[in-house]
Amino acid sequence: QAALPAGYQLRALRQSDYDTGFLDCLRVLTTVGDITKEQFEDQYSYMTRQEGGYFILVVEDTNPSPPRVVGTGALVVERKFIHTLGSVGHIEDIAVAKDQQGKKLGLRIIQALDFIASKTGCYKTILDCSEANEGFYVKCGFRRAGLEMAHYH
Ligand code: ACO
Repeated sequence: QAALPAGYQLRALRQSDYDTGFLDCLRVLTTVGDITKEQFEDQYSYMTRQEGGYFILVVEDTNPSPPRVVGTGALVVERKFIHTLGSVGHIEDIAVAKDQQGKKLGLRIIQALDFIASKTGCYKTILDCSEANEGFYVKCGFRRAGLEMAHYH
C-alpha cells in the first residue's frame, strides 16, 4: 500500500471545502460550472443525508498555507435486491490536480474508496473510464469488464 507524501492527508469532504480548491480539482476532470456556496452546501447536505450512500474523499496538501485540496474521488454505494440484497460500489469523479499527478495520490484515493466499498459490504466495485486511463486503473487492481452505454439528456 502506497503512503501519501509528507504533509498530504486523506480525509472526507467537508461542507467547508467550497473554499479549499475542491471544485477546481474537479475541473481537471470535466466541466463543473458556476456553483454558488449555497448550492454547494445544499448538494453536500443532500449527499450526507443519504446515509452510507456517498463517500467523497479528498487529498489535502497541508504544506501551503492555507492547505489546498489537490485530489478527490467518490464512492456511491448502490443497494440492490439481487445477490440477497447486495450492494455495488461505484467509483466516480476521480481527479488529481495537474501539478500533483504522478505522486500516487490517485492510487491512494482508489485504494481508500475500494476499502470503504468492501467494508460497507459491496460485492464488487465498478467504474467507467476512458481508454487513456485504463493503465491507471489496472495499476489500482481493476480489470476491464463489460461495456458502457450512455444516453445523454
Ligand atoms: N495510464 C497508465 N498508467 C497511469 C496513468 C495513465 N493514464 N495515470 C497514472 N498511471 C500510473 C502511474 O504511472 C503509476 O504507476 P507506477 O505505480 O508504476 O508508478 C500508477 O498509475 C499510479 O498513478 P498515480 O500517481 O496514483 O496517478 P495520479 O495521482 O496522477 O492520478 C489520474 C491518476 C486520477 C488518472 C489523474 O491523472 C487525473 O486526475 N487525470 C485527469 C482526470 C481523470 O481522467 N480522472 C479519471 C476519470 S475516470 C473516473 O473518474 C472513474
